[in-house]
Amino acid sequence: MVAVTFYGQSGFLVEVNGKKILFDPFISGNEKASHININDINPDFILLTHGHQDHVLDAEVIAKQSGAKLISNFEVTNWFVDKGVENTHPLNHGGGVELGDNDNKLRVQYVNAVHTSSMPDGSYGGQPGGFVVSYDGKDDKGAFYHCGDTALTMDMKLIPERTPLDFAMLCIGDNFTMDAKDAARAADFVKVQKVIGMHFDTFPPIEIDHDAARKIFADAGKELMLMDIGEKITL
Ligand code: NI
Ligand code: MN
Repeated sequence: MVAVTFYGQSGFLVEVNGKKILFDPFISGNEKASHININDINPDFILLTHGHQDHVLDAEVIAKQSGAKLISNFEVTNWFVDKGVENTHPLNHGGGVELGDNDNKLRVQYVNAVHTSSMPDGSYGGQPGGFVVSYDGKDDKGAFYHCGDTALTMDMKLIPERTPLDFAMLCIGDNFTMDAKDAARAADFVKVQKVIGMHFDTFPPIEIDHDAARKIFADAGKELMLMDIGEKITL
């Protein structure tokens, strides 16, 4: 049973095979997430899709207090090394790393995204990406995809050729990323039925009509889940 908790914007905690994987924490700067205490989040791994503030704001604090391994592209991990984060692992596009242990084989692959990336201080943040996380452990076997911030791209079609996915987190907020219509096409490209929406409602330009977004997915024969901040679901 894979558990997913939503922390707003593109932030999630995924619990699988006894490991906790935190994506893109933007919590302390999000009024809508004021009921979430970042001191309560104790991940094993922190995965950052790119350098923008709405994806990395709380990564330094959580990495230092938890000792979690911070994984992102080479430029993003180097930026956090300079801030005193000791446990990091750099990736670049197409590359992956095996994490976990014999009871819990976990692989994290950094895949293409069409977007930009700079750090909150304006320094170079490498090229943005998404993650494919696959796991084969005592309890859970499977894989999922967190697309990061991206446009719809044909590269998505490559993902399920190698790694069949159970579900995906896809950005749906329009303006800076895909809207729901393109996200439904992305769901088709990566061959998933279940999608957890992200990157919506945090700021006025990405506020969306929830019912309209769900209908776009339903009309495509797919399910769009729009989680409340702090809500935890099992998949
Ligand atoms: Ni971004
Ligand atoms: Mn963003």
